[in-house]
Amino acid sequence: MKVQRFSKIGFILAAAGSAVGLGNIWKFPYMTGEYGGGAFVLVYLIIIAFVGFSVMIAEMLIGALGRSDTVTSFEKLAPPNKKYWKLAGFMGFNGIIIMTFYSVVIGWIFYYLYSLLRGLPTSTDQAKAAFDNLVGNEVLAQIFFHTLAVVIVGYIVYRGIKGGIERINLILMPALMLILFGLLAYAMTLDGFKEALSFMFEPKWEKLNSEAFVRAVGHSFFTLSLGMGAIMTYAASLPKEASITKTAFIVTFMDTLIALVAGLVIFSFLFQFGAKPGQGPGLVFISLPTILNNFGTLGIFFALLFFLALAFAGITSAISLVEPVVQYLIDRFHMTRTKAVIFISFIYWLVGVGAILSYSNAWGKIFSIGGKPLFDILEYTTDSILLPLGGLLIAIFVGYVMQKSQVKAHLQTFNEMNPTMYRIWYFSIRYIAPLALLFMMLNLLGVIEL
Ligand code: PHE
Repeated sequence: MKVQRFSKIGFILAAAGSAVGLGNIWKFPYMTGEYGGGAFVLVYLIIIAFVGFSVMIAEMLIGALGRSDTVTSFEKLAPPNKKYWKLAGFMGFNGIIIMTFYSVVIGWIFYYLYSLLRGLPTSTDQAKAAFDNLVGNEVLAQIFFHTLAVVIVGYIVYRGIKGGIERINLILMPALMLILFGLLAYAMTLDGFKEALSFMFEPKWEKLNSEAFVRAVGHSFFTLSLGMGAIMTYAASLPKEASITKTAFIVTFMDTLIALVAGLVIFSFLFQFGAKPGQGPGLVFISLPTILNNFGTLGIFFALLFFLALAFAGITSAISLVEPVVQYLIDRFHMTRTKAVIFISFIYWLVGVGAILSYSNAWGKIFSIGGKPLFDILEYTTDSILLPLGGLLIAIFVGYVMQKSQVKAHLQTFNEMNPTMYRIWYFSIRYIAPLALLFMMLNLLGVIEL
């Protein structure tokens, strides 16, 4: 049972801190690059507005009414004859699977922060060689920084909702926004900015395929932290007077804005010096540092700021990935917070080491299944399968299983939704969100082709 409550602003920043993460600054720009820009962005925005936003409200609602860990909340809110719905609460474990590779990427960011101090790469080849060397050969350095990430995140979660999670978000989120908007202001003075704008907002439909659609749906859940109980667990500590609809709107808006700003910043720098956008996961680790070298000493400063923002974004999300299971272990197994944190951190740390090895030249083969490195399998499984599945369960639970009157009463208390809005939301949670998710999953399984 949750006792601590966030303050209003603490909750907004914590939920936004969860949503705004590596997904926004590292992943969204490279996905946009891979799927050709504008059309992908447009599909993504539509999905965020119609599916992501509605599911966010539903997930917050379960948390705010359940006021417990994810499993207990589902159990409490399910009708007496449907208690097996508590199984849906195990979506909290998705966060730990995500953490296995998420903390590895945070480790890379730490490594970059440290190595940038020695200067920037002078050519893309050099930058690529450095990144490939890190991932392929520097196993120990990666394990060191991965461990550092695990320890920092563990410490914050151990400090609890008020003293750890709320506190750190109150500092890191404003800092992150200051850095990103500062970089944007500078990027707007560059010639590359216009090109970045048209790359991101002029749809090239021929580039859009069903894979892009599936990835956009998957990413919308990932980026909004939906389908794994992070938002639900935070909402269990929602301050009494907070409005779910408003908060969900602010969080969705901030998340989307920051993804777009990050994309504009990165692409402006890239286009300024004629680099290509479609470079996959290496985009911010390879292309960006090289390009920033053109700015001389100022470039090192920009790079440090950028990677610092990335680290902040990563950490505030990571704590929300760990908290649900920690809360679950505390509630259901009566573990102390300290024990729960150590136990769960150790498990994902270990699998994370496997993910690191799966990219290494020496061990890659052993840590791959069917030619796919463990790292990619973990990422694909969560992003494309588990989070959408979690989202589907949330939509069905709120749309069909929970008592209608309870849902309606809560969302209309504090006048937070007027009747028309409520009807639109209810329709989308019952029909639009589940259909989009089902469609996506069937497409993924190869049952339907777009
Ligand atoms: N939303 C985070 C990001 O965009 C990742 C995340 C997913 C965090 C799910 C919590 C839950 O990077």
